[in-house]
Amino acid sequence: MIKFPSGFYWGAATSSHQIEGDNRNDWVDWEKKNAVRLAEEAKNKWQKWQQEKFPEMFKQENYVSGIACDHYNRFEEDFNIAKSLGHNTHRFSIEWSRIEPKEGVFDEKEIEHYRNVIKALKQRNIEPFITLWHFSLPSWFATRGGWQSKKSVFYFSRYAEKVVQEFGENVKFWITLNEPEIYTGKSYLKGQWPPQKKNLFTYFLVFKNLIKAHRAAYKTIKKINPKAEIGIAKNNIYFEAYNNNFLNKILKFFADWRWNFYFLNKIKNHQDFIGVNYYRHFLVNFCFLKQRDKRVSDMGWELYPEGIYYILKDLKKYNKPVYITENGLADADDKNREWFIKEILKNVYKAIKESVDVRGYFYWSLLDNFEWDKGFWPRFGLVEIDYKTMERKIRPSAWEYAKICKENKLKI
Ligand code: FCB
Repeated sequence: MIKFPSGFYWGAATSSHQIEGDNRNDWVDWEKKNAVRLAEEAKNKWQKWQQEKFPEMFKQENYVSGIACDHYNRFEEDFNIAKSLGHNTHRFSIEWSRIEPKEGVFDEKEIEHYRNVIKALKQRNIEPFITLWHFSLPSWFATRGGWQSKKSVFYFSRYAEKVVQEFGENVKFWITLNEPEIYTGKSYLKGQWPPQKKNLFTYFLVFKNLIKAHRAAYKTIKKINPKAEIGIAKNNIYFEAYNNNFLNKILKFFADWRWNFYFLNKIKNHQDFIGVNYYRHFLVNFCFLKQRDKRVSDMGWELYPEGIYYILKDLKKYNKPVYITENGLADADDKNREWFIKEILKNVYKAIKESVDVRGYFYWSLLDNFEWDKGFWPRFGLVEIDYKTMERKIRPSAWEYAKICKENKLKI
């Protein structure tokens, strides 16, 4: 029997654009222009078994977020589910484009909406962890250059100030940014996500602005609420030196330095906790990254639960509380999810025993949702969504996870 520290936070994570529906932001603008192309490109992007299992990837509608899970209107129902599953915390994001639809103009109706969202969680004794920015941008901000703009730091911190002034009294945990490496990599290095600007110079500029934006928002939030606990959701990868040879060890060191630690080092005096998202394990072999394909998710990502132990151990040097702000897998048949969650948690426990101060775990995601440029076909949810009827169906693995959440322990 594995017993977790008392007061451990158990829950799931979501993000506004992926579940709310009917958003008006830079992603929606981009989806309209790119849906046909994405549907065509699926032929070359995915393996045969994936194409056969998910033929919806060839349809244009798959790539348009539309009403998504209609969570904007159904949040109470969804929080009832989270409650029934024994969750005592929930991570979600506020959609910046709703709060500030025009530059400097805040929408009181939308502020009221999120006030109700927070209230609904509190009524169910579910602690909110709020992300301020999870990839989607107000269109006006994107038009002004988004994170490339010199003024981006000011814009973000003004938005953060407004949100924390409105909700700060009821919210303790704030996550300023989600996964700066993923965003800058996809948008500015690979040129796959909006604004599809493949440019090394811009990539570094945006990365730098995100660091500055976090620090500025940190100070702003602390001024309003000195008791607030603030961090980011940091995507960390477990890099392993292939064959353990000397060159690969050096390359692993650089990969860790740049991907896993650089941002955290830059904000080490501006964070109260570390939020970490863990999905991937790569073998570093000369200049190539490869994965073992023994057991993979529907997205083809290697399932390597042991990796979280190493990720957590590496965070010990920061001497801060750690929350696993995302971890999960796309698994439409729900055949690996229970095994995966349990193995992950055994490894989390191992790290706790070796004095890493882990205080919570958020499964990604509560609901199936819109997986960015992949669209709707990857099924990450504890809860299955029928996108035609919007019916919610709790997957068997969710009940297994619920037992752990409710008892704060795991039978092994
Ligand atoms: C993370 C993102 C999240 C979701 C999962 C699968 O990188 O933060 O929005 O897309 O991956």
